Amino acid sequence: MILVAGGSGRLGTLIVRRLAARGLRVRVLTRDRRRTAHFGGDRVEIIEGDVRDGPSVDAALVGVGTVVSAVHGFGDIGNVSPASVDRDGNCNLINGAASANAAVVLMSVVGTSPEHPIELFRMKHSAEEHLRASGAPWTIVRATAFAEFWLDLLDQTAGASGRPVIFGRGANPINFVSVSDVAALVERAVVDPSARGATFEIGGPQNVSFNELAGGLLQTSGRTAPPRHVPRPIVRALAALLGPVRPNRARQLRAALAMDTMDLTFLPTALHRRFPELPVTSLADILAHR
Ligand SMILES: NC(=O)c1ccc[n+]([C@@H]2O[C@H](COP(=O)([O-])OP(=O)(O)OC[C@H]3O[C@@H](n4cnc5c(N)ncnc54)[C@H](OP(=O)(O)O)[C@@H]3O)[C@@H](O)[C@H]2O)c1
Repeated sequence: MILVAGGSGRLGTLIVRRLAARGLRVRVLTRDRRRTAHFGGDRVEIIEGDVRDGPSVDAALVGVGTVVSAVHGFGDIGNVSPASVDRDGNCNLINGAASANAAVVLMSVVGTSPEHPIELFRMKHSAEEHLRASGAPWTIVRATAFAEFWLDLLDQTAGASGRPVIFGRGANPINFVSVSDVAALVERAVVDPSARGATFEIGGPQNVSFNELAGGLLQTSGRTAPPRHVPRPIVRALAALLGPVRPNRARQLRAALAMDTMDLTFLPTALHRRFPELPVTSLADILAHR
């Protein structure tokens, strides 16, 4: 049995479908089973629980041989944070897996470090360290930004004006990867015993700025109005203002500033030398299939 924590999410859903399509038994851990309704006829077991709650994690782990963690606490649902989900929640999953002698495939991000300015990256670093020291057989999959997520976000912020919102100048090159390519790698990491004890880094074939990403989105949807930019000082001020009342939104704004200024380029060659058969989806293909 494979437990997919975060199996209801964007990446998790693709992982679950790939594993189930192989005939493997899959269990999804979710805080609310209504978020798994899209699995419909797929033969997938659903269990309610929260990675922040040790006993519910232990209940989800009964009979499990491999755990995939595709959770994060960077979003808006529930009172989550990178510290409570990406660090502490992953610790619960890892400790439970180690006791049950189950392997762990942990989703992380390219660029994790203990000093990273983005809290999520620091908490992922903590989880990675904990996993390596846990005694459980492990694989870490680090990915760059999911193109589909950011395209959807740009589309949502466009609203009635049709003009996507970009925080900052939007000129910084960033590596975006297709979430379906990441799912193919995670599937491989689950089923391939030679993937244990390895850290894989996956990115897309291009580094593009938010201005270019928005340009591609506007072009494919036949819109001509340019994106709207929120100047960096306003993003900084908004983050400071929202900090005490909407910590998640403040965190996202601070991350947006970092994405506008940090080197987030990536060359995906090492992974494709090791797994040449894995798909590499271009941004043009992602845009064409939206
Ligand atoms: N999005 C990106 O650009 C990106 C880039 C690199 C790496 N990643 C990593 O890839 C993974 C998947 O990302 P995604 O964007 O596909 O995620 P997503 O669609 O936002 O889904 C997040 C998942 O986390 C689960 N979750 C959150 N808090 C939880 C909790 N307390 N207990 C149990 N489950 C919880 C949610 O489950 P329920 O709501 O059903 O409980 C949901 O399935 C994450 O580990 C993320 O850090 C993402």
